[in-house]
Amino acid sequence: MTAIHPSILNCDIAHLADELDRVTGAAGAGKGADGIHVDVMDNHFVPNLSWGLPVVEAVLAHTSLPVDAHLMIRDADRWAPAYAEAGCQIVTPHAEATTAPVRLARELHRLGAGAGIALRPATPLEAVADVLGEFDLLLLMTVEPGFGGQPFIESMLSKIRRARELVGARGLNLRVQVDGGITSQTIERAAQAGADVFVAGSAVYRAEDALAAIRELREAASSHRHDRSHDH
Ligand code: DX5
Ligand code: ZN
Repeated sequence: MTAIHPSILNCDIAHLADELDRVTGAAGAGKGADGIHVDVMDNHFVPNLSWGLPVVEAVLAHTSLPVDAHLMIRDADRWAPAYAEAGCQIVTPHAEATTAPVRLARELHRLGAGAGIALRPATPLEAVADVLGEFDLLLLMTVEPGFGGQPFIESMLSKIRRARELVGARGLNLRVQVDGGITSQTIERAAQAGADVFVAGSAVYRAEDALAAIRELREAASSHRHDRSHDH
């Protein structure tokens, strides 16, 4: 199932509640955002500082949408569990910032959250291939993490394709999320390559009508869905 998760990184932070409401579809009608993507940055793992647990807790208290926490922070083994305890539906540390990813995934599950694992563009899939069965979501960065509004790195399409093949070959129950530079154009190629959860920051929040932008992204992704019947 195609899912669109707006990233609030570059929304109007002074009006965070309104900005969350802007992407939430009317109750029952569905079709707004499928989840909210919160980018936690510590100015060490990436050259930018965003927010931490208190802001994520405020988001959780305001929205009824599932929240996925993308942790661009060092020492994720230490900090990630609190985001699960707070009620995030999925908590996604970076593979490059985790010393014991399997132990951490199990800890996140024990605390009632889904476990994701994120890869920077230059980190090969092989870094996590053997432990993917422990996770619910693989986040493939399609820009260098740290900032919104950057162009999609086209060479990531083959990584998405290989990730989808791996999921098919192993029969894994794993979502493939892409994050960075997702627009109504790039989403088609990412969907075709096999991604099924799409993070979009500027494409949603810079649009006049955020719900229309989400609809457009979802339609573009759904009509270019990877044909899984070709997977083994
Ligand atoms: C970048 C973040 C992204 C970012 C996406 O490090 O992980 O979630 O906000 O923004 P866009 O869609 O503008 O690339
Ligand atoms: Zn992100």
